[in-house]
Amino acid sequence: MTKDFASTSAGTASLSHEELFRRINALKKEMNALVLAHYYTVPEIQQVADIVGDSLALARAAEKTDADVIVFAGVYFMAETAKILNPGKLVLMPDAHAGCPLADSCPSAEFRKFKAEHPGAIVITYINSTAEIKALSDITCTSSNAEEIIRQIPQTRQIIFGPDRNLGGYLSKKLGREMILWQGYCYVHDDFSESCILKACREHPDAELIAHPECREEVLRHASFIGSTKALLHYTVASSTKTFLVATEPGILYEMQRRSPLKTFLPAPKDPGNPRMLCTQMKQNTLEKLYHCMLTRKPEIVVDETLRLASLGSIMRMLEMSPA
Ligand code: 13P
Ligand code: SF4
Repeated sequence: MTKDFASTSAGTASLSHEELFRRINALKKEMNALVLAHYYTVPEIQQVADIVGDSLALARAAEKTDADVIVFAGVYFMAETAKILNPGKLVLMPDAHAGCPLADSCPSAEFRKFKAEHPGAIVITYINSTAEIKALSDITCTSSNAEEIIRQIPQTRQIIFGPDRNLGGYLSKKLGREMILWQGYCYVHDDFSESCILKACREHPDAELIAHPECREEVLRHASFIGSTKALLHYTVASSTKTFLVATEPGILYEMQRRSPLKTFLPAPKDPGNPRMLCTQMKQNTLEKLYHCMLTRKPEIVVDETLRLASLGSIMRMLEMSPA
């Protein structure tokens, strides 16, 4: 859920990246701030961040830090999770309008009804969800640890999984375990089509297709490796393959290329005319907004204390069930 307090970057538009890096680094020291960035943010944000990672790594970093201020360059649910874990810290976002449509596709009133239709089922929800949904959940998970967490649930327990139907369907098939799925999806991943992917594979016969489990099954079935953002990155580093066709948000290509400069990374294409190649919400994090939010100490992420306590349990359970 995106809250109504975006930062503006007025007055900083003319500053060079180098000058913004210098000012942001000075503010980090002055404020004792930790800057966290997701792999899908623009390269210059990844360059200035203290930690760049996937949702799980960033949640863990937020849990462990002794910084006074956390600046979260990602989307709203990520910064909200950091605040839930750190009620005493100032948590800032460069642009608090950077929401996640997947998280927003699961309203709490409807999810409560959905849950009531399956009494006794354990509720596992993807971290890409609002605090209200986490409060209705038994365990939070990310694409990095969902499999590990589901494996710990006794076979006799029914599982409700949400909000991503593609990740849920992939895990269900992989683990041979039926789950009750909320029908949400991430447009960035769901928009890859089988025909377009197969055409790209024909055009690049030496490339290996790797995909994020938020993609549809018809795409995943052609991938030689399926994994979370971090797993895809590690796979490309360890593999002897020289060219990869990457079916996920292309922001990760920056770190893949940085870690393997001699390999070639091709973003998997969308159908011609589909403008939704990127996660536009992640790209709302600009260097100017990052600097401005640190300078003005806003927008600040605020979570109601009753809601915070209600949602904390499912996040803590995730961290306990998938130790680093
Ligand atoms: P991970 O960072 O867990 O791979 O999730 C991808 C994503 O869609 C983040 O919003
Ligand atoms: Fe949400 Fe998809 Fe963007 Fe991730 S990539 S923040 S799931 S819209």
